[in-house]
Formats: sequence, structure tokens, C-alpha cells
Amino acid sequence: MKEIKNATEAFSFNDAFRERLSARHTFSDDLFVHPYHLDIISKRLSQKLTTVIPEVLDEITMAFEENVDIGSDWTPIDNFNVMLKSISRTTSKIFVGLPLGRNQDYLDKAVAFATIASKAGHTIDMVPEILKPIVSWFVMDKGAALKKVLDDIGPIFLKRKQKMEELGDRWTDRPNDAIQWILDLAPPDSSIDNMCMRILFLNFTAIHTSTISITQVLLDLGAHPEFQEPLREEIESVLREFGGWTKQALTKMKKLDSCMRESQRLNGVVIGTAMRKATVSQSLSDGTFIPKGTWVFVPSGALHRSEILYENPLEFDPFRYSRMREQPGHEAKHQLVSVDENNLGFGLGNHACPGRFFAANELKVLLAFIICNYEFKTPTSDRPKNGFYATSCFPDPSKHLLFRERVDREHSSVNRFK
Ligand code: HEM
Repeated sequence: MKEIKNATEAFSFNDAFRERLSARHTFSDDLFVHPYHLDIISKRLSQKLTTVIPEVLDEITMAFEENVDIGSDWTPIDNFNVMLKSISRTTSKIFVGLPLGRNQDYLDKAVAFATIASKAGHTIDMVPEILKPIVSWFVMDKGAALKKVLDDIGPIFLKRKQKMEELGDRWTDRPNDAIQWILDLAPPDSSIDNMCMRILFLNFTAIHTSTISITQVLLDLGAHPEFQEPLREEIESVLREFGGWTKQALTKMKKLDSCMRESQRLNGVVIGTAMRKATVSQSLSDGTFIPKGTWVFVPSGALHRSEILYENPLEFDPFRYSRMREQPGHEAKHQLVSVDENNLGFGLGNHACPGRFFAANELKVLLAFIICNYEFKTPTSDRPKNGFYATSCFPDPSKHLLFRERVDREHSSVNRFK
């Protein structure tokens, strides 16, 4: 792991990712020729993080409540789909702004494209080079899924571009969304289609990963409802202390952070991560020979369950990491966004997930809102089993949770500080 993680030339993340996505047939090779989306995420989106929390809270809670009808009786909720709708809407508000970010027809098409492209990438990768264009035509829905989304975003890019050309620096109140960030950072000769594709790629990296992660936390806490009250107490007390949702308040919610990291440890979106492809034949320092073209992964799923690294590794122990942070010198370690060699939920090294800071804030706000407004549990005491595809791990979308309103939810600080 140590030898591979930052050896960008000898072990290429881009070659692996490009091939895994079958980028030329699903998205566009332009993603890897001009990877300016990395700056978009780590600079522009991160700059927005300090101010984005109220916006995220508004959108995500509105989306959640519009998609559920929960009263005082236990009600089955299709948690995966509700999470998908809430996350796709919130993410899209940040990426494409309003009104498009709230348009359900656009959201459905954008999610459909991400789903199709993800599955198609695997299928196309498995067939010989000569068949790839034909196979991709079929598995990519003959271009229809793409066209539908381009028809929605293309005109916005065009209009913005024209306004930028017209007003130049005199346009001082430009929207602060991903459409604008793309227009600012894309090479000047980028086509509108390629810029639209960047939005679809951002959706692909952000929406399903976040949806799966929050669904898994809900399943973990639904199978262990006894942990909901301590989390509620922490959230209420921190919000009272800080007088509302600030970045510092979120940082102070250590149990919430720990619970999400623990869920990611056991039920993270990938069981093999830090993927790389060897660009030359080489030997590692222990003598392992890796021929050119070999794919290399770190088996994060196995590592996260290692008895050497974790006490009772198969047990969901939500406050495992907050206890670790109580040790002197460890206060700032073991956070959800910390990447280290024992915890690979967001990858490792140069290509660790740049979107994790945004995702962590977004998901914490959503989880805090749910925990303070509702109680939830699995219908039986068993936690539903995960499904696996290649290196991905996902919750069974057919397994619903039971929800009911909390009696005193209207007094919750979560609602007072909205
Ligand atoms: C909880 C949600 C998320 C999880 C679990 C997650 C997980 C990951 C992992 C494991 C990788 C590394 C892949 C590997 O090394 O094998 C990765 C990379 C990446 N993620 Fe995330 N991610 C999440 C959210 C996001 C969001 C919200 C964005 C965008 C706003 C994003 C953008 C990216 C990008 C662009 C890469 C590739 C980085 C590169 O090319 O160097 N992710 N993510």
C-alpha cells in the first residue's frame, strides 16, 4: 500500500479509472485529458463548504419530507429511493442551481444516466476492443439517456457563456455553481457537450456513493436503535451550544462523525480501493512481481475487518472512533474524512476522494435531521445483507425501514435552527 499509493507514474489511477469507466464510450476521454473537475471539487466546492450548510439543510430536509409520509405509527419507508431523491436534489442544486436542480424530471434523467454509465462501463470493459462501439451503443441506451440530460443542461451552459462574453468582468454576481466553475476552469476550446459531460461525471462520482453511504448508516442504526438516543443528545446539545448549524458545530458532533465512519468501515461503498494499473513491469520491495498492465487494489473490505487492527471487528460499534479520539494526541484523528492506511473508505494517497469533505457535511446534516425528527428500525432484528458487484458493496434497495415521528420533534434544535 505504502509503495503504491503515491507512485502515480508506475501505478496509474487514471489508467485504471479510465478503463473501469470505459470513459471513451460512456463519458468522454476529455475527463482524463483535462481533469479540471479535481480543482472544481477541491477548490471551488471546498470554498463553498463554509457557507453551504444552510443551503444543504434546507434542500435536503425539504426533499426528504416531500418524499415521505410519516406519522406517529410505524411506517415502512423505501429508504434507498428516498435517500437517492434527497441526495440527487441537494447535489444538483449545488451543481446546476435552480430551477433545474429541483426539476424532478431532470433529476430522474441525471440519476438514470449515472446508473446506466456505471453498469455500462463494466460491460464495455469486458468485451474486445473491436466490439466496444457496438456494445456501448446498446448498453448506453443508444445515446438516448445522454441526449435527454444534454437537452436540459446544454442551453444553460450556452446562455451563461454568451453572458460571460457579453459582460466580461462587469458580470460580478455570477452564479456560484458547478456550471460556472466548469465555464471558468475548462480549456477555452471545450465544447458545450464536453462541459455538460463534466456535470454528468460529477453526478456519477457524488450521488450514488453518498446515497449508498447514508442508506448503510440508516440500516446500521435501524438494526441498533439503542444508539439513536446518544446521537440525538449530542446533536441537540451541540446545536444549542453553537446557536445553529455552523461548520464548527458539525466538527463538534464527534459521535455522529464516528458512527458514520464505523458504518463506512463495515459497509463502505467499496471493498477494494486505491485502484491502480501498473504502467511498467516492476517488483515491490518484498519481491512481489507485478507485470505491466496488472490491476492493483487494496482489499479495504478485508482490512476493515481485520482482528489485528480492530477489537471485535465484526461488531457495529458506532462510538469506536469517538473513543479513540479521546486519547491524548488523537483528538484530530480518526475522523470520517481522515484517510489513513487502516481506513480506506475514501481511498488513499494522491487520488483519495476529493469530494469527501462535501459528502461528510451533507450526510451529517441529513442524518442529524432524521435522527432528531424520527425513530427508525429494521422490521426484524437482522441487519439486511449487502450486495456486491465487482469491488462495489451496496445495500439491498428492497429492504425497507420502519419510521415514526418523535413525539417532541417540534422542540428539536434541528428544526429551530433551520
Ligand atoms: C460518501 C460519499 C463518497 C464516497 C464513499 C466516495 C468514495 C471514493 C473513493 C473510495 C474514491 C477513490 C477510488 C479509489 O481509489 O479506488 C473516490 C474518488 C473520487 N471521488 Fe469520491 N466518494 C464520495 C463522494 C464524492 C463526492 C460528493 C464527489 C464530488 C463532489 C466525489 C468525487 C470523487 C472524484 C472526482 C474521485 C476521483 C479522484 C481522482 O481522480 O483523483 N466523491 N471517491
